Amino acid sequence: MSSADSAAPSGRPALIDGKAIAATITDDIARRTASLGVKPGLAVVLVGDDGASAVYVSMKSKKAEALGFHSVQHTLLAATTEAELLAVVADLNADPAIHGILVQLPLPAHLDAAVVIAAIDPDKDVDGLSVTNAGRLAVGDPSAIVPCTPLGAMTLIGTVHGADLSGLEAVVIGRSRLVGLPMALLLQQANATVTIAHSRTRDLPAVARRADILVAAVGRAEMVKGDWIKPGATVIDVGTSRVPDASKASGQRLVGDIAFAEAGAAGAITPVPGGVGPMTIAMLMRNTLDAAARRAG
Ligand code: GUN
Repeated sequence: MSSADSAAPSGRPALIDGKAIAATITDDIARRTASLGVKPGLAVVLVGDDGASAVYVSMKSKKAEALGFHSVQHTLLAATTEAELLAVVADLNADPAIHGILVQLPLPAHLDAAVVIAAIDPDKDVDGLSVTNAGRLAVGDPSAIVPCTPLGAMTLIGTVHGADLSGLEAVVIGRSRLVGLPMALLLQQANATVTIAHSRTRDLPAVARRADILVAAVGRAEMVKGDWIKPGATVIDVGTSRVPDASKASGQRLVGDIAFAEAGAAGAITPVPGGVGPMTIAMLMRNTLDAAARRAG
C-alpha cells in the first residue's frame, strides 16, 4: 500500500501522508511491545525552557506511554551544569529499565552537546547521534542505531520509490549530524546518486533541480522555491519554522523549508505539519523497542 498514490488529477503533487504512515508503524510497535515480555524504557532529557523543545519532548514521552513503554522525562533547569547533566546520563546508562536515552537538542549554550552525547551508552543512543552509531552507519554496519528523522524520511521515500533507488539522483540540502549527513548515507546505501548541498554550494537552485529526490533539511522557512524542483520529483521537507500568521489564533503558522504553495511541479511532497515530523517520533519508538529487544536477547 502506498499513501502517496492519491495524486490529485489537477497536476498537484501527491501528498505523502506521514501522519497515516506513522500511525501504521506505531500500531505495529504497540503489538510487538505487548508480546516482547519486557517494557521498552525511554528516557527523554530536556534542559532549559525552550518552548519548541518542550513541546517535542512532551510528544515523545506521551507517545511512549501510549505504546505501553516505561516512559520517563527529566526536565532540568537551564542553569544545569555539565557535571549534573552527565550524572543524570550516567544514572540512565546504569538503569536496566531504560533502553533508550534521548537528550533533546539544542542544549543551552554553556553545555557541549558532543560531550553529553559521548556519555550516552551507544546501545541506548536511540537518537543515533554517538560517534559509535554514526560510524556504524557510515560503514553500513546493520547494528547501527540510525537517527530517527532520516530513518523516517527514508520510509516515506520508500512508499513512492520502493527500497531500491538505483538510477535516481538525490540531493540533500543540509549537512547536519542529526539529519543531512545520515540522510545522505541512507540514500547512497539505497543506491541513489547523492549530492549533499549546503550554505556554501554554488548555484543551489541548479543543484536542487537535478534531484529526483529532494530532501530539504535546513530550518529556513520556505527557502526552496518552486523553480528549484524538477518536474515529478519526490520532495521531503524536514524543516519546521514558525512564521507570523494573523489569521491563526496563535498568531503563527508552521512552515517547512519548501515553499509549499509553489511546489506544484513535484510528483509527491511531504506536508508540514503531518509529513516527516510524525515519522521522527515513530522511528524513535521503533529504535527504543529494538534496543529493548536486543537487550532482552
Ligand atoms: N532536536 C530536534 N530534533 C531532535 C532529535 O531528533 N533528537 C534530539 N536529541 N534533539 C532534537
